Amino acid sequence: TSSKQQQLIQLHEKAAEVYHHMLVNTAIGEAALDYLHKRGLNDQLIEEFNIGFAPNQRDFLVRVFQNEALDSNIFPESGLFVERENKELVDRFYQRIMFPIRNFQGKTVGFSGRFFATEDFDDQDQPKYLNSPETTLFNKREILFNFDKARSGIRKSGTVYLFEGFMDVLAAYRTGVTNGIASMGTSLTNEQITAISRVAQELVLCYDGDQAGIAATDRAIGHLQESSGIDLSVVSVPENLDPDEYVKKYGQEPFVKLLEHGKETVFSFKMHYRRMNKNMSNEKEQVEYVQELLHDLLNVDSLIEQDRYLTQLSTEFQISRETLQQQLRDLKRQRR
Ligand code: UTP
Ligand code: MN
Ligand code: MN
Ligand code: MN
Ligand code: MN
Repeated sequence: TSSKQQQLIQLHEKAAEVYHHMLVNTAIGEAALDYLHKRGLNDQLIEEFNIGFAPNQRDFLVRVFQNEALDSNIFPESGLFVERENKELVDRFYQRIMFPIRNFQGKTVGFSGRFFATEDFDDQDQPKYLNSPETTLFNKREILFNFDKARSGIRKSGTVYLFEGFMDVLAAYRTGVTNGIASMGTSLTNEQITAISRVAQELVLCYDGDQAGIAATDRAIGHLQESSGIDLSVVSVPENLDPDEYVKKYGQEPFVKLLEHGKETVFSFKMHYRRMNKNMSNEKEQVEYVQELLHDLLNVDSLIEQDRYLTQLSTEFQISRETLQQQLRDLKRQRR
């Protein structure tokens, strides 16, 4: 890393430190700290992840940095500020709970700030999460939340859990599942998949249980099957809950059990997923369903698994196994 990079990291580490201080030691951060406690984040976790609070003040960080006599030339490219029309720099993050985002080496290179509504500041137009912009330091394509901390556990167990949000990673972490990671609210990139495949044999997708999460799961499966040989499975969180909400509602132990015993194969996920978008009492859609699943079956490597699913489809839709197998062979030939 160049000295410029080091300076930018220094700004981020400094910012994380003061945001954290505001959250845990000052009256300004009290309500946000209460909120985090109510959401189940204890002080130890808040320390470990260096969570902070950016007060509702547009020149908070500007002043901190000025007092520290930091080189203001690099402020604009840090992503921590936005430029007003008169060229004046103001804080990008305010009235937000701040999650430092670390690179694979554990250095803070960006932030995600969760808007924290209060009585005197409840702006409906604010996005729930605001992330650092793309900078030389903060490359969203490469970042995975918590990957630096999770890596050794992933290596040891061979397994990585991929969640949709930071709060889900943190909820899992609390339950002892420390090998969880999340992308930055975007779909998985090749860079991220490469980094994951280097250390994990098995990836468990555990996105939100709502419609958006289920659709995102299907997309993630597509990316992962295309560009990695990693062993994939899916945990669907019931009742439209996300993992964090599940822990809150049912407790830590049931969540760990869900991860252990609720794993299903990708194909089993596809069987549920494809059904959701169809009217299965319509014959035409039934046929489409079977056809789509035969395509999915091409991605199933295990012959034993394939055989089971063929039997299942054959039984459910009263189609002979021979016909299904013939069709599968045809599809295989077409794909080559
Ligand atoms: P969710 O809306 O599921 O948020 O978005 P969450 O993780 O459950 O957060 P809480 O529990 O409401 O606090 C999932 C992820 O999508 C990205 C974030 O990375 C978030 O963790 N996201 C979401 C954004 O980047 N911006 C947004 O406005 C919302
Ligand atoms: Mn501290
Ligand atoms: Mn979601
Ligand atoms: Mn969620
Ligand atoms: Mn949530």
